[in-house]
Amino acid sequence: MAQADKEKWNRRYENNPIPDIPIKIVTDYAKKEATVKKALDIAAGMGRNSKYLASIGFEVDALDISSLAIESLQNIANINAKEVDFDTYILPTDRYDLIVCTYFLKRELFPQIIAALKENGILIYETFVYHPKNEQTPSERSFLLEEGELENAFKDDLTIIKSSEYWHETIKGKMMKKASIVAKKQNNKH
Ligand SMILES: C[S@@+](CC[C@H](N)C(=O)[O-])C[C@H]1O[C@@H](n2cnc3c(N)ncnc32)[C@H](O)[C@@H]1O
Repeated sequence: MAQADKEKWNRRYENNPIPDIPIKIVTDYAKKEATVKKALDIAAGMGRNSKYLASIGFEVDALDISSLAIESLQNIANINAKEVDFDTYILPTDRYDLIVCTYFLKRELFPQIIAALKENGILIYETFVYHPKNEQTPSERSFLLEEGELENAFKDDLTIIKSSEYWHETIKGKMMKKASIVAKKQNNKH
């Protein structure tokens, strides 16, 4: 297990509680696009998206490396929260009607995400993009998307329903470039 990541995120969640408000693209698209109800929240953190999805009827697998985050998501109806390390964890195949991933980037997971979606399953993905004018810099550039990368990574296997890159103010008041996609797994793409 990536012990350093686990400790870093446990400390961060202990000292800086993040707002419990789900990400807008999740509230905009989850209900509208995903008709059946088994969802996966990748790197769920404190569960702002998982809690929203559970509240609208999804049965959610919420996965994250932070034991503190996973502990906080126990005993919530329709959330199955589990501590996993995506350096080693392999997603199940053909399991989910909806997969959500916000503010976590691990490119090795992209093929697994596609395989984990059921037919007609929906992917909602949003995270930061590298740009020299970003006002908040993460420790490693590899944690950021390149421009155009998110849509390109999924467009051959999934049907893109929405794709955008835009500037947005973070909860710390810093301007950052972000990318988001909503995409659907459909037979005619294979
Ligand atoms: C920026 S937070 C995003 C959390 C959540 N998706 C949200 O938008 O509120 C990134 C999350 O990735 C998790 N994480 C980092 N490395 C991980 C790994 N190797 N395996 C699983 N989760 C990891 C952290 O614990 C943290 O909760």
